[in-house]
Amino acid sequence: MIALLKSHLDGDDQEFLSVAMQAAAHEARLGHASIAQQLRDLIDEAKRRASAVQSRSGQLIVLEPRGELANLLSVETPSARLSDMALPEALSERLNRVLLEQRQQKRLSEHGLNARRKLLFIGPPGTGKTMTASALAGELHSPLFTIMLEGLITKFMGETAAKLRSVFEAIRQTRGVYLFDEFDALGAHRHQPNDVGEIRRVLNSFLQLIEKDKSQSLIVAATNHPELLDRALFRRFDDVIEYGLPDTDIAKEVLTRKLAVFQATDVEWSRILPQAGGLSHADLARASEEAAKHAVLGGSTRITSEALLTAIQERKAASR
Ligand SMILES: Nc1ncnc2c1ncn2[C@@H]1O[C@H](COP(=O)(O)OP(=O)(O)O)[C@@H](O)[C@H]1O
Ligand SMILES: [Mg+2]
Repeated sequence: MIALLKSHLDGDDQEFLSVAMQAAAHEARLGHASIAQQLRDLIDEAKRRASAVQSRSGQLIVLEPRGELANLLSVETPSARLSDMALPEALSERLNRVLLEQRQQKRLSEHGLNARRKLLFIGPPGTGKTMTASALAGELHSPLFTIMLEGLITKFMGETAAKLRSVFEAIRQTRGVYLFDEFDALGAHRHQPNDVGEIRRVLNSFLQLIEKDKSQSLIVAATNHPELLDRALFRRFDDVIEYGLPDTDIAKEVLTRKLAVFQATDVEWSRILPQAGGLSHADLARASEEAAKHAVLGGSTRITSEALLTAIQERKAASR
């Protein structure tokens, strides 16, 4: 009974139902078959409703009365995992620490401690920032809400700020992973590229909202342009995680992962890898895909060094 009440007060639905299941089992053991059955029926009903509430509250966000959030948030439930990514040891450790603290949020808060949950990802395009947000949501079995900057940014500063506030209201109400992707674009719209003052003002209001936020959601902001941000603002994040172009080992890992279902035993890595320098993870993933397509269209699943080299050269030319 105490455990039941406690889980209810904590809003921990899963724990609540699991305690209720134990109660049902207990009644069954006592020979109270009918009570046990009633409990089980109620639990089944609660589970059905829980998923309805879940999807409805997902909808509620998207179909808020004023219809406002519909243009601001998109939601998905990613299945990606960190293990799908080729990550250097140090980065992998930092991300796993985020997951650990998220999973132990309750335990930390019982001791007055806060789990890391405001993250800033910085680094060049195609190095895995967006993918990481998705993998974190996947690992936490949490919905990923991506803030749609196109919907957020209007030509009126005041309006943009109001929309930002409603996004933060959603962050407070519905726990999840919230991704402000390429958030340096905030305020960049319809302004001269050199109107940095305006960009800064919108960014500042965003950073103030982040600082005030006391929700349980994981907030990820990602940017390719950290130079637009005042370094002092980095303090508002629990963690600033830097992404970079892959080194040779990681490059090989990205290439081979993409080729996992193909025969890549003939590939002469000593010829390939020196050519891969300067390419991002995204470029490498694309090159692998091109080489694989080339093989398939040639009627084989065997990847040749030549095909991979050509694909890499093409990516290089394209990214220049
Ligand atoms: N660490 C990684 N391991 C494997 N593939 C990666 C990694 N980082 C990026 N990729 C590949 O590059 C693509 C683009 O990455 P993304 O996360 O969108 O980059 P960013 O957000 O930094 O611009 C991904 O969809 C994936 O195919
Ligand atoms: Mg991205």
